[in-house]
Amino acid sequence: MADLQAMSRVTLFGSGNKAGVNFDPARDIPSLAEKVILVTGGAGDLGKQVAIELARHNPRRIYIADLPKSDDAIKALNDAIRQESGNSDLPLTYLAIDLASFDSIQKVAAKFKETEDRLDICVLNAGIMRVASGVTKDGYEITFGINYLGHALFTKLLMPTMLHTATLEGADVRVVVVSSEGHAMAPKGGILFDKLKGPCEDVKYFARYGQSKIACICLARELAREYPQITTAAVHPGRIITGMAHGLRKESWLFKITTPLSPLFCVPVAVGVRNHLWAATAKDVVSGKYYEPVGIPDKESPVGKDTELSRKLWEWTSNELKGRV
Ligand SMILES: NC(=O)c1ccc[n+]([C@@H]2O[C@H](COP(=O)([O-])OP(=O)(O)OC[C@H]3O[C@@H](n4cnc5c(N)ncnc54)[C@H](OP(=O)(O)O)[C@@H]3O)[C@@H](O)[C@H]2O)c1
Repeated sequence: MADLQAMSRVTLFGSGNKAGVNFDPARDIPSLAEKVILVTGGAGDLGKQVAIELARHNPRRIYIADLPKSDDAIKALNDAIRQESGNSDLPLTYLAIDLASFDSIQKVAAKFKETEDRLDICVLNAGIMRVASGVTKDGYEITFGINYLGHALFTKLLMPTMLHTATLEGADVRVVVVSSEGHAMAPKGGILFDKLKGPCEDVKYFARYGQSKIACICLARELAREYPQITTAAVHPGRIITGMAHGLRKESWLFKITTPLSPLFCVPVAVGVRNHLWAATAKDVVSGKYYEPVGIPDKESPVGKDTELSRKLWEWTSNELKGRV
């Protein structure tokens, strides 16, 4: 019951996209000439829109990292990004990655590093929220494994390239970790360390999601502490009807019956990416912080502010990823 209350509180009274800094992507994103960008979950609704908005500012290349897709689907995605951004010559590369598999992440990071010498903006956006429990290929709770742990490994593997980029003239390297106001639905204490290996099926799906998104806030904080040369921020996009909601409707009666009401609480995708874009490009982003849309700091739940928790998670993560990085 307490879980359900937490979920309703976030849905009904969570952050809207009505406040924050005055940020217009078309006007405020500077030229991205020479910059290399990577967006995970870039075939999904928010990730694709992030790629479109950044593409308008002429980056050197955008990498889309998402689950394997057919050649036709990749072509359609590339065509849509080029057409909607108006950047018809945009160099785009699709990286087929499964963030639920350490092997896949290692292969993709190696491939990226073979062909690319810089990475300026890395948007860790892929994510799931599922009712069904499960585990990643390496045995971790699936939501935590994809939303947090896979991204943590990918970031560690890409970090040498980002640190090199940070030494180049005019560089301003960014990591944007996509969290959620849903981090407030995490279980007591934030992260159930003793249940991360296994399906965690006795924990409600929204609490598993909340746990993974608290971990994303911790990741941004720890990356900022470890790597002051780059700017890292965690963001909540707002509430947007995307692929994630469509999937949940098939699994959850609560999502299904509230579908007609959802437009009242949601904003369009183009509005829902502003916080990603602000964190990726604006000058006044403070490294290590979590922002609600757009650019509003310090709205974490009390557990989300817990620096001891993020240190503990960082150590746990380093141990789990030993031999992989
Ligand atoms: N929409 C919202 O209201 C909202 C609110 C707060 C936070 N967020 C966060 O925003 C981010 C983007 O989500 P979205 O709303 O745009 O949902 P979406 O349309 O479902 O996009 C998520 C993307 O992640 C991909 N993905 C799933 N599992 C993956 C894996 N194992 N490896 C690689 N990629 C994987 C999905 O691929 P498939 O489609 O092929 O599965 C999809 O392309 C997520 O981190 C989400 O938690 C969204």
